[in-house]
Amino acid sequence: MCCITGSEQFLEDDSVDLIVTDPPFNLGFGGTTQTRTKKPRFHIIENDKLSFRDYQRFSLQWLRQAYRILKPKHHIYVCIDWRMYPFLFRWMQRVGFHIKNLIVWDKVSFGMGWQYRFQHELVIFAVKGAHKVRRVSTRNTPDIWKIKRIPGNQTCHPTEKPTELFEIMIQNSSQPGELVVDFFTGIGASMEAAFNLKRDFYGFEIDTGYYNDTIKRYERIHI
Ligand SMILES: C[S@@+](CC[C@H](N)C(=O)[O-])C[C@H]1O[C@@H](n2cnc3c(N)ncnc32)[C@H](O)[C@@H]1O
Repeated sequence: MCCITGSEQFLEDDSVDLIVTDPPFNLGFGGTTQTRTKKPRFHIIENDKLSFRDYQRFSLQWLRQAYRILKPKHHIYVCIDWRMYPFLFRWMQRVGFHIKNLIVWDKVSFGMGWQYRFQHELVIFAVKGAHKVRRVSTRNTPDIWKIKRIPGNQTCHPTEKPTELFEIMIQNSSQPGELVVDFFTGIGASMEAAFNLKRDFYGFEIDTGYYNDTIKRYERIHI
């Protein structure tokens, strides 16, 4: 289901304790290129190859929904890479979020990239509201997170994230039993992180194949 229509339909204003999400970066990425076929391993995910204007419209639409459903004073984490970061930063501000930090995810080993090869991604950390907002539950987490990436040949989704990345966000910005929402669930890394930490979870995924993979993952960890 689309996160824009889905959140509008199912989630009330000021009802969500935490949003963690990893939207399409609009890079038209289909996963690492296979040595044998010279083709990407996956199809390009939905909304990842839009004109700039359409990507802006799409981003503002889901961000407005995110702002609407998040409880005042609560946190949102949005993954992004360096190419789209300046735009997303402004769009998040435009819908009302106050940006608090930029987290650098150090993937420990490098992946693709021309010239210098990429070893990091970014996560924007923001809050809804300016005063007396929630604090992260630890003062011992720096803004660089060293978490091993999943090797390209072991992923089941072109932009699959390690569960630990979402676990840090959820651990630091919510309490057990609270509701965590992901607008772009992919194959369910955030769902697994929320489950491991005993949070309630609501996720949206537009691709039926990846949605089914998330359901299977849920069934696996529930047994
Ligand atoms: C960057 S990936 C998320 C990957 C995820 N973090 C994981 O580890 O599996 C973005 C996902 O958003 C989905 N998507 C794109 N447009 C969407 C929309 N309007 N509503 C819901 N999901 C959407 C894509 O199919 C893709 O799986």
